[in-house]
Amino acid sequence: MRAEVPLARILDAIDYRPDLSSADLRRLAGALGLNEIGLCALGCGQYPLPEAAALPFCLHPLRMAHGIGFANAYLVAVCGASHGILFDTGPDIVALQAAWPRAIKTVDAVFLTHVEGEHTGGLCEVVARFGLSAAFCPTGAKVPCGRAMGEGERMRFGPFEVTAFSTPGHASAHNCYLVTAPSERPGGALLISGDLVFAGSVGGGYFCHRQLATHLRRMLGAVPPQTVIAPGHGPLTTAEHELRYNPFVV
Ligand SMILES: [Fe+2]
Repeated sequence: MRAEVPLARILDAIDYRPDLSSADLRRLAGALGLNEIGLCALGCGQYPLPEAAALPFCLHPLRMAHGIGFANAYLVAVCGASHGILFDTGPDIVALQAAWPRAIKTVDAVFLTHVEGEHTGGLCEVVARFGLSAAFCPTGAKVPCGRAMGEGERMRFGPFEVTAFSTPGHASAHNCYLVTAPSERPGGALLISGDLVFAGSVGGGYFCHRQLATHLRRMLGAVPPQTVIAPGHGPLTTAEHELRYNPFVV
């Protein structure tokens, strides 16, 4: 191919066995129009992570083992409160319980980014356990206990305002959720990004790569630069940081 990198090495990298030299990565970035600095850092296992801005509420990442990696769910709560709102439910209820912070006794709402085993395990059980009528889901998601939440729809729970953005690409039904708490302290937004964007990477475009790329660019541009991004996999990052370094934001 144009980058003159052996196909076997590219396939190994796709299969999580990267053996690409910096020269390979530079040529790949050039041939594919990717961010060279970000791709080289990622390929060398040195993708930089930003100092995430302080949020006006507490964010509890619930990191759960899944396959060869980890999946994240998130609880958002007023600091010191015993209740909050939950985003995704991880691979299963046992893993979710093991990751659950002791201080949080109940949830006021559950939101789902997309239907995939490592994010929806035990979803309806969680909804029933906390006496909720349904989980807020992307429009078109096939979830028996789901209630559709479409583009621009906004919900309030206590001080939290949650706005849904329809971001198909990784899946046909996929939402990101922007969380703010305007009454707590101005500024400080959180984007629950599901499998749209990760620190230094993006979700697979299993439904439509073109749509994923479009929504990726749209979302990173739509939120304030310091917005904390909480992805379905991997560490926290910020919108500004991913715009600058994410190799796949083109
Ligand atoms: Fe995922």
